[in-house]
Amino acid sequence: MEVIRTREAFREAMVEARAAGRGVGFVPTLGFLHDGHRSLMARAREEADLVAVSIFVNPLQFGPAEDVAAYPRDLDRDLGICEKEGVDAVFAPDADEMYPGGPPEVTVDPGPVGNRLEGASRPGHFRGVSTVVAKLLGIVGPCRAYFGEKDAQQLFIVLRMVRDLDLPAEIVGCPTVRERDGLALSSRNTYLSAEERRAATCLYEALARAAWLVEGGERDARVLRAELARRIGAEPLAALDYVAVVDEDTFEEVDRLRGPARALVAARVGPARLIDNLLLRPSD
Ligand code: PAJ
Repeated sequence: MEVIRTREAFREAMVEARAAGRGVGFVPTLGFLHDGHRSLMARAREEADLVAVSIFVNPLQFGPAEDVAAYPRDLDRDLGICEKEGVDAVFAPDADEMYPGGPPEVTVDPGPVGNRLEGASRPGHFRGVSTVVAKLLGIVGPCRAYFGEKDAQQLFIVLRMVRDLDLPAEIVGCPTVRERDGLALSSRNTYLSAEERRAATCLYEALARAAWLVEGGERDARVLRAELARRIGAEPLAALDYVAVVDEDTFEEVDRLRGPARALVAARVGPARLIDNLLLRPSD
């Protein structure tokens, strides 16, 4: 496995791979890898000839109130995980390599969806995400790139960006990997105490209850949102940020379920801000 520190060397490695007829599978990450990330690597390993992973804590997507320096990091451990997953190349640049001369002057506007939900709670977040993903895809070149449904709004915006800007990547969405009790894996789970960890299951429980109500015939999104909020509100250690039920194709909030929709929740549990979501499939 090759560990690459510069954009130039990474770009060259990807160009060489394609010249040799090898299709590139690319998995962008912030590092501190867990089984959710591993599932993306495994999927890329199945579908691509060469698997590349980027590990970069992108300062652009952290707000002024969020501490980018405190984001957990363990490059040695991450490299071990990549090796085990059969990754061919790891791109691990530092911030000066990615943004020489400081933050970029030209950034990618994530569009209207970028200002809602996560974007409303974290102003500038999706501009930072879109910009770094565009940059990474620019360095990698034509590839399939793998993203988790765990960050459904991010996946939606990346799909739109690639479509609207004609970027030469095929975006592949991958299912959320969960703990046995339903908690979605996240690097942020490491911030939780044992008690908070137990409380954190309220996000998935609320979502699962909403999906169960939809299976039972509920189509009123206001009822579903009220149920989501009630379930998370009942957990004393959780502070609700938002609940939403959006159309799967537009990410617009819906009043009634007329097709596939997605329920999304965000809450603070102790020191961690957690997000989760679940697809709601009305059977009719
Ligand atoms: P990060 O949070 O490290 O996540 C990297 C990828 O792993 C994302 O596509 C995310 O959706 C996916 N992922 C995280 N937890 C998952 C889980 N439990 N199951 C399945 N997939 C999961 O998302 C980012 O980094 C950054 O915003 C990035 C795209 C790298 C841009 O900086």
